[in-house]
Amino acid sequence: MRDVHRFLASLVGIFYLTCRLGGATPKSLCRKVLLLEPSSEHALRGHLLTNITVPSASSCSFFCFDTPECFSYNVGPGPDELEFTCELSDSDAAQHPDDLVPRPGFTYQGYENACLTSVPCSSHRACRIGYEDPFRCTCQMNYTGLSCELPKNVKVDVLSAGLDDDVGSDYCNLKVDGTEYCLKMRGHNIAAFYMNGTLIANAAFDTHRDEAAPNNMSYLIDSLPSNTLVLVAVQDSAFVRKSPAAIQSLIALGAVPPVWPNGHRASWFLIGYKGEPRPSWVKQGFADRYQGPSNGTAVFPREGCLPHGNQIEKWCSSP
Ligand SMILES: *[C@@H]1O[C@H](CO)[C@@H](O)[C@H](O)[C@H]1NC(C)=O
Ligand SMILES: *[C@@H]1O[C@H](CO)[C@@H](O)[C@H](O)[C@H]1NC(C)=O
Ligand SMILES: *[C@@H]1O[C@H](CO)[C@@H](O)[C@H](O)[C@H]1NC(C)=O
Ligand SMILES: *[C@@H]1O[C@H](CO)[C@@H](O)[C@H](O)[C@H]1NC(C)=O
Ligand SMILES: *[C@@H]1O[C@H](CO)[C@@H](O)[C@H](O)[C@H]1NC(C)=O
Repeated sequence: MRDVHRFLASLVGIFYLTCRLGGATPKSLCRKVLLLEPSSEHALRGHLLTNITVPSASSCSFFCFDTPECFSYNVGPGPDELEFTCELSDSDAAQHPDDLVPRPGFTYQGYENACLTSVPCSSHRACRIGYEDPFRCTCQMNYTGLSCELPKNVKVDVLSAGLDDDVGSDYCNLKVDGTEYCLKMRGHNIAAFYMNGTLIANAAFDTHRDEAAPNNMSYLIDSLPSNTLVLVAVQDSAFVRKSPAAIQSLIALGAVPPVWPNGHRASWFLIGYKGEPRPSWVKQGFADRYQGPSNGTAVFPREGCLPHGNQIEKWCSSP
């Protein structure tokens, strides 16, 4: 573990030099900070970002410098004589003067904090010190996208209601990240997405009246690419028209018996996944006529490689 830290600490030094020498690093990603007078025998309390062990006090300095979220650090005695404890903080004594407290053997080091005087960053964006405009704002933890508008997790909300269920007006929800994709028609409503939350297709099949509906639905499901989120919710009534092909297609998405609504005006939904292995968030719900609505939610990490706060930075997650 300590070897890893030593290795990282030595890398950090190189990034620092590359940036200072104006090498291949884009200027906008270079960090330039002004060190304030250190406070010896003191440490900042309660704003810990990372706690590591380093081979020298200067490694701690490089580590903070290379961590965009780092505003200040405490460095002090480590677990043994040859090592140092390095605590990076996501805030500083300028913002929290009361948290700068005496601590034997430790030194607190802060940077000049431009975030205190500049315009605050917009929603889901956080101010980082030491970067040139417009790159001083980066995404807060758990948000991504060019304007930091996307949560790193995809959030799914599904609701199915039969005509006689007591729900007011909303008889179908197929929501991803708060956006409604249900066409709200009688029968089976479907929406399919890439695992980054982008819609592939949505459709509705009148499985109450239209004889072709179940096989058409089966055809749509079977033509979807692998590794997709597939949401299904019935609305009004979806009982009369059914087919073995449609049942097989729903089973392939993770549906288990009963794979069809339990009767006239019964509710039924599926938060399904096309692909292997089946994720733990796949779920299904149903209720008899008058007993609905049925609803459920799921949350999973967003897949993809998205611009993160600016054109250069990227946030990536792989399947
Ligand atoms: C950081 O880790 C050291 C041990 O390596 C520990 O003594 C110290 O209390 C930790 N700091 C915080 C703020 O948890
Ligand atoms: C970010 O997401 C992680 C994992 O899903 C969670 O543990 C953490 O509390 C979240 N942080 C914030 C600030 O929402
Ligand atoms: C989502 O993933 C699909 C397929 O990989 C891709 O074509 C699309 O551009 C991605 N959308 C975003 C917003 O990244
Ligand atoms: C089913 O597919 C047929 C042939 O493609 C089409 O004519 C019909 O409108 C479709 N019906 C539904 C309910 O989608
Ligand atoms: C179902 O909807 C009700 C009312 O909107 C909500 O309170 C409940 O949490 C939802 N249940 C699930 C599993 O989403």
